[in-house]
Amino acid sequence: MDAADRHVPVKLDRCVELLAPALKNPGSVAIDGTVGLGGHAEALLDRCPQATVIGIDRDPDALALATSRLERFGSRFVPVRDTYDQLPRALAQVGADSADGILLDLGVSSMQIDDSARGFSYRNDAEIDMRMDTSTGLTAADILRDSDEDQLVWILREYGEERYARLIAQAVVTRRRQRPIVRTEDLATVVREAIPPHRNRSGDPAKRTFQALRIAVNDELTLLETALVSALDSLTVGGRVVVMSYHSLEDRLVKHHFALGATDATPQDLPSLRPEDAPYLRALTRGAEQADSEEVAANSRARSVRLRAAERIGPTRHRSAA
Ligand SMILES: C[S@@+](CC[C@H](N)C(=O)[O-])C[C@H]1O[C@@H](n2cnc3c(N)ncnc32)[C@H](O)[C@@H]1O
Repeated sequence: MDAADRHVPVKLDRCVELLAPALKNPGSVAIDGTVGLGGHAEALLDRCPQATVIGIDRDPDALALATSRLERFGSRFVPVRDTYDQLPRALAQVGADSADGILLDLGVSSMQIDDSARGFSYRNDAEIDMRMDTSTGLTAADILRDSDEDQLVWILREYGEERYARLIAQAVVTRRRQRPIVRTEDLATVVREAIPPHRNRSGDPAKRTFQALRIAVNDELTLLETALVSALDSLTVGGRVVVMSYHSLEDRLVKHHFALGATDATPQDLPSLRPEDAPYLRALTRGAEQADSEEVAANSRARSVRLRAAERIGPTRHRSAA
């Protein structure tokens, strides 16, 4: 199966439309921080012929597929295996210290979810791994084995917004005394049985637990927070950033950082605008944009997308504070 068949890029035209005005000049540099199967990167390379695109992914399998898909662009595509919070390190690979466009299409790709061996999905039985980079770090099975009840409750509440976190954590601890929970089907059954049956919930009751474990295994929110600060610092003035989130925890962080940058930080008791207090971002979207019904019908992954975009208009406060 080709890379293009394994993941349908979400809001592809809109992403290119938002980023292209910043990628018109010869020598422009774009970073696709979540290159995945290379769908967005391919469209940027096609439609912004002056730009070099650095494609970052922590998943070596995805990066290999993207690299072969984008081979025809020669040195205009630069693959980097890393996490997306390491933007300066990626920029250094092309001798640059700033980017004109940055794209983050968060979360996991359809390829990762569909590959049952990776254990991301409660729909396919597999070992509960959930690492995006399978060469390093703890698996979700390790976390289920080694965390105490309170730690599990914390993970489920913080990363899954799960109101039955205590009941699920207790069920996990009881169950692992009998035998370890190492398969996705086992975990999904433990969760479904732990939640009161009369509760009318949308979707599979195991969904939030799987989301929480995936975020914990990959340290997703910590990396996103660092990446957002780094992305805004790394943009040239006039540069543009587009972020697509797929759940409210991610979108909340993006909204917060974009709003901070677009707000005048002059203390109330000061009369005049100091340059370091001036807004350094201009929002390019009104709130968060969603996918239209046509796209959702064609690509169910687009259902939960929230897209926010901004343009850098001045020096950031992170840098001037440093
Ligand atoms: C939704 S997919 C991107 C799909 C891509 N836009 C395309 O068109 O094919 C997200 C990708 O980001 C990668 N990823 C997630 N978190 C990451 C991180 N912190 N650093 C680097 N890559 C990450 C995942 O491995 C996955 O391949």
